[in-house]
Formats: sequence, structure tokens, C-alpha cells
Amino acid sequence: MPYLETAVEIAREAGALVAHHFERRLPFQTKGEFDLVTEADHASEKLIVERLRSHFPSHAIVAEEGGGHQSASSYCWYVDPLDGTTNFAHSFPMFNVTLGLAHAGEMIAGVVYDPIRQELFTAERGSGAWLNNRRIRVSSAAHLNLSLAATGFPSRKRHHNVNIHFYYQAAMASHGVRRTGSAALDLAYVACGRLDYFWEFGLKPWDMAAGTLLVQEAGGRVSDMIGAPHAIAASDHLLADNAFLHAEVLELFAEIFRGHLRVPLPPVG
Ligand code: IPD
Ligand code: CA
Ligand code: CA
Repeated sequence: MPYLETAVEIAREAGALVAHHFERRLPFQTKGEFDLVTEADHASEKLIVERLRSHFPSHAIVAEEGGGHQSASSYCWYVDPLDGTTNFAHSFPMFNVTLGLAHAGEMIAGVVYDPIRQELFTAERGSGAWLNNRRIRVSSAAHLNLSLAATGFPSRKRHHNVNIHFYYQAAMASHGVRRTGSAALDLAYVACGRLDYFWEFGLKPWDMAAGTLLVQEAGGRVSDMIGAPHAIAASDHLLADNAFLHAEVLELFAEIFRGHLRVPLPPVG
């Protein structure tokens, strides 16, 4: 079945819709305290779910804004109709549309489409990862002190997130840590070597479905932050890297989980 081709077609159509809304500077609503949502999230999700249901009526669909489809099928689509909504709502041009397909719990196809840069990242299990028509590979950075990283902070309960400790230690150990506000693009950027590793606590399956497959198919490693196998629907945290850095990042993270900080946060004042 042409799963990937269909997902690409749908992501391009939804990406064009989102980009059109971007130029109109939409107002936003909040889900909870700081979690933003716009008309573009809802319109994109409606389009994607309608298209998926017409192509694959039996498949299950899990979509962020709740418009999915329950089914006992072994095929399940994870849909983030607009990943990077906070950026989008502030006219910060870093967001994407992403769809990933799992079969019996294993990711088999994924798309991350950035309509601003017109960059289409695709992966299919066993067939590699691609950016537009070019095969992509993870970077070859072999040590943390030569690396560029990214992380994110969930919109929900953001003040209670321990990630600031990880952010600071990783920033001190590497060339820097970016916070792009778009987890699927962070993962796509690890896949194509623009970033060497990415981690985050509390991501949802639709944030990671396509991106984790991209990283694996580009030669990288995906696990949770203590090195255990990562499960899209069950893990509390994620580490995705170029494989060369895997052990070194896990060692740094293990120290932080134990409460040992290589570089203490400087006092204020
Ligand atoms: C968010 C973005 C952000 C990440 C958050 C996600 P959304 O997704 O991917 O980078 O840090 O954890 O919730 O809400 O914009 O689709
Ligand atoms: Ca998201
Ligand atoms: Ca979203």
C-alpha cells in the first residue's frame, strides 16, 4: 500500500492550509494555562483526518485536537496537525505538519513537512530517510564537546519541569542547546545532521511518531533518557541522537538523574 505517498500528499495539502493561515495572523485560544490552539490547528486536523479516513477507512487515527478515529485495526496514524503552535501564534516561522503510521505498535512510515521552508522529511521502515529528494544521514559528531543539541519544554505545567537542569548541563557540555518550539522538526534536524541530539520530557505520541522513525532510518539512535527502549505511546521521556553520542549523553543524564550536577547553576546576584 502506498502509505508514505498518501501521507506526503496529505501533509503537503495541510501544510499549504497552515501556511495560508500563518499569513493571516490568527488569534489563539488556550487549552489549560499556556497551551495554545488556533483555528489552523483545527482546520488542518479536519483535513488530515478526512483524507486519511477516505484512503484508509479501517485504520485507527490518534490526532492531537481530538478528531481521531477509534478502530481495532493494527494500523494507527498519529497526527499532529500543527506542531509548533506557540511559534505559529506569535508569527515565529518554525512549525510543521506531521503524520506517522504505526503497524502493530511499530512505526513504519512518517512525514514531517515544514511549509515555510518547503522542506519535506520522509521515512519508511527499512528504506532510509529523505529530505525532499535527497537521502539524509545523522551527523558524525563523536563527542559532546563538538555537538549542537535541542530540547523542548512542554506547554502544560511548564513551571514544574525538571528539564532546566538537563538544559544547563548539556549547554555547558556542548556548543549549545536550541529550543526551537517544534519537536518534530527537532527530530527531523537530528535525522539530517543539523542537530546532534535532542531530548524532551512529556512529549505526546503525535509529536514523536514520524520524527523517531526519521532518526532511526537516518542511522541514529532513539531511546528514553535512561537508555531503555523508547515506546511512542508509553515513555515519559525521549533521547534521539546520532548514535555516536548516545553513551556520552546517557552518562551525563544519569548523573543529573542522580542529582549530581557537573556545573552548578550560578547564584543570581
Ligand atoms: C509542542 C512542540 C514543542 C514541544 C512541546 C509540544 P504543539 O507541540 O512540539 O516543541 O516542546 O512539548 O507540545 O503543542 O505545538 O503541537
Ligand atoms: Ca506537537
Ligand atoms: Ca499540535
